Amino acid sequence: MSVLIKGGRVVTAADDYVGDVFVDGERISLLGEDLDVTADTTIDASGKLVLPGLVDPHTHLDMPFGGTTTIDDVQSGQTAAAFGGTTCHVDFCIQPQGSTFAAALDEWRSKASGKQVIDMGYHIAITDLSDPERLEELATLPEQGVTSYKLFMAYKGALQVDDETLFRSMEVAAASGALVMVHAENGDAIDVLVKQALAAGHTAPHYHALTRPPETEGEATNRAIQLARVAGCPLYVVHVSCKESVEPIALAREKGWDVWGETCTQYFFVDQTFLERPNFEGAKYVYTPPPRAKANQDVLWNAVRTDVLSAISTDHCSFLWDGQKTLGRDDFSKIPNGGPGLENRLHMIHHFGVGEGRITLNRMVELLSTNPAKLFGLYPRKGTIAPGSDADLVIFDPTRRKTITAAGQHSKTDYNLYEGTEVTGDVDTVLIRGTVVVGDGELKVEPGFGEFVARAKFGEELRPAVARA
Ligand code: URP
Ligand code: ZN
Ligand code: ZN
Repeated sequence: MSVLIKGGRVVTAADDYVGDVFVDGERISLLGEDLDVTADTTIDASGKLVLPGLVDPHTHLDMPFGGTTTIDDVQSGQTAAAFGGTTCHVDFCIQPQGSTFAAALDEWRSKASGKQVIDMGYHIAITDLSDPERLEELATLPEQGVTSYKLFMAYKGALQVDDETLFRSMEVAAASGALVMVHAENGDAIDVLVKQALAAGHTAPHYHALTRPPETEGEATNRAIQLARVAGCPLYVVHVSCKESVEPIALAREKGWDVWGETCTQYFFVDQTFLERPNFEGAKYVYTPPPRAKANQDVLWNAVRTDVLSAISTDHCSFLWDGQKTLGRDDFSKIPNGGPGLENRLHMIHHFGVGEGRITLNRMVELLSTNPAKLFGLYPRKGTIAPGSDADLVIFDPTRRKTITAAGQHSKTDYNLYEGTEVTGDVDTVLIRGTVVVGDGELKVEPGFGEFVARAKFGEELRPAVARA
């Protein structure tokens, strides 16, 4: 099957031109002006943007967490992703305490099997290295296409690891070719603050933010950076929310260290006052790190513009407000941490980032697609529009108006962080490996279409010849 996408404005991290994209089978074959080719299907993209499929490097689908399980499984989460122009994501496979990584990956792959709508890979989230065999096993994962290790420096008593586990993982990564990702908050200090707040009778959702001050994020970010420097591994700090963690990342990058940072859509738009919304509405915004003081939003825009931060993810970790968030009605520390967002990253960043002049279109593509693909071993199969790359393409109408609502979304959750926000620009058609996945407002593929992608080691390119996992 071949597809000709005609006359769109093709935008990558580097290019911006009006032209045609010819797709032969699963890959992009030709690019040019007025291509003289015949195709099985022709899509008129005039007046529209043609973007590389977006890559979301940070999602949590079908994940047990906070006494419950995220409401979006692979099928609903990836359907939401596809409607938002995300064609590939990297989800977190969490090692249960005492388990091998192989068993964890088997379990997560079987949860996804037959449900996949878009392409995906896994990061391994390390929780337990007490058995020395785990270190050996960890070193083998990059060969299997699992090329990033995630460690939580918070969530004491659940996912949190100590500094020894963090540092040993970093040493393995330095030798195995993995990228280390950290959830950087000082979990021990936060645990003390949470206990003190509850003892004082402070149970409402806004205490989630008050017990996780920005300094606890800044301290852990700096600690992880320094430890990664000693271990000699590359480091990626997830969901950076505030000035206190932007600053150590900026300093490390200025020194030329192998440190990258990511923020998430919600940190540009939701501030800590949202947690004070009455009738327990504030619980919708209980995610970690918490929404911060509004002044941080300009800091984050500046950081993504100047490449202090290199990616924008969603950290999609969705729960129902009614029935899941309400587990913490009498105790903020029992509200499952996480928020939805997979479907609206492009809408929000295009409208408020590009539309309001904060970042360029090229930079938006870099932040939402190219940089995540490069950092997580997917590039140039994913993350760009070039001959030989997977034909993962988003045809985006920059003039179509859309009002974001929970009622109109594909996630199974019952709320939307951006409810009622009006944006200009909407996804028209999405292709993955040359197949139309979203078109005419409908999902065009059956679950099971999406594939696992074996990712390249850190710093290496993923060429089509690399086998799929
Ligand atoms: O609140 C959040 N972010 N939940 C998901 C787990 C994590 O910390 O990324
Ligand atoms: Zn986290
Ligand atoms: Zn997360």
